Amino acid sequence: MNTDITLYGSLVVLRSLFTAEIRSNQYKNWLIDPRVTRYMSSGQARPTDEEMFAYEKSGLLLGIFRKNSYDCRGTTDLWMGNVRLHQINTTQRVAELGIMIGDKARWGQGYATDACTVMLGYAFGSMNLNRVGIGVVELNKAGLALWTKLGFKEEGRLREAFWVDGLPRDVIRMGLLQREWFDAHRGSGTSKTG
Ligand SMILES: CC(C)(COP(=O)(O)OP(=O)(O)OC[C@H]1O[C@@H](n2cnc3c(N)ncnc32)[C@H](O)[C@@H]1OP(=O)(O)O)[C@@H](O)C(=O)NCCC(=O)NCCS
Repeated sequence: MNTDITLYGSLVVLRSLFTAEIRSNQYKNWLIDPRVTRYMSSGQARPTDEEMFAYEKSGLLLGIFRKNSYDCRGTTDLWMGNVRLHQINTTQRVAELGIMIGDKARWGQGYATDACTVMLGYAFGSMNLNRVGIGVVELNKAGLALWTKLGFKEEGRLREAFWVDGLPRDVIRMGLLQREWFDAHRGSGTSKTG
């Protein structure tokens, strides 16, 4: 999806990535870090540039940058991860959401909550989607806490859909509806440019 978007949260700025960032070692190193990718379906093989560009084009991928140091020239030292809408169907008004805070030093500081809040505001507001879905491995306590806190509701389980340390684990399917989001966030909003 070719876009040029910048969105502002309280802690983070989300923006489209530059070509150099998409193919950067910083990004690829996150994708081969076993702790970061433990519950991600991408696996841990180092992706090629072509795979990185194909991934970027297959959804709405935005980099997560720490807000108080955000530099519009695009320096990457405070880039901590990405958030992505994919399987976007504007006829059915649905999409799937994913997030990765690749910089583990930033975990547990509210950045994912803020980044997803901004992305969901854009998805339900500007994009007028009716439903956003996610899948989370049952062992991913941080992921489960994040989605539950954001208002996602469990809708079902894909039994033994994901292997962790040689054992099959369930993937919990969760969803959030536009009216649920606006009921919870009436009066709040995100700003955008681009
Ligand atoms: C899951 C992930 C995005 C969370 O990012 P984060 O910036 O640490 O999340 P936040 O700081 O916004 O915390 C969100 C909630 O999760 C909770 N949480 C964070 N880490 C946790 C952990 N290890 N165990 C239990 N809860 C945890 C937080 O306490 C918070 O809930 P609270 O405010 O009610 O206390 C991050 O760990 C990550 O990128 N992991 C690797 C990729 C991944 O698993 N992506 C999700 C796939 S579903």
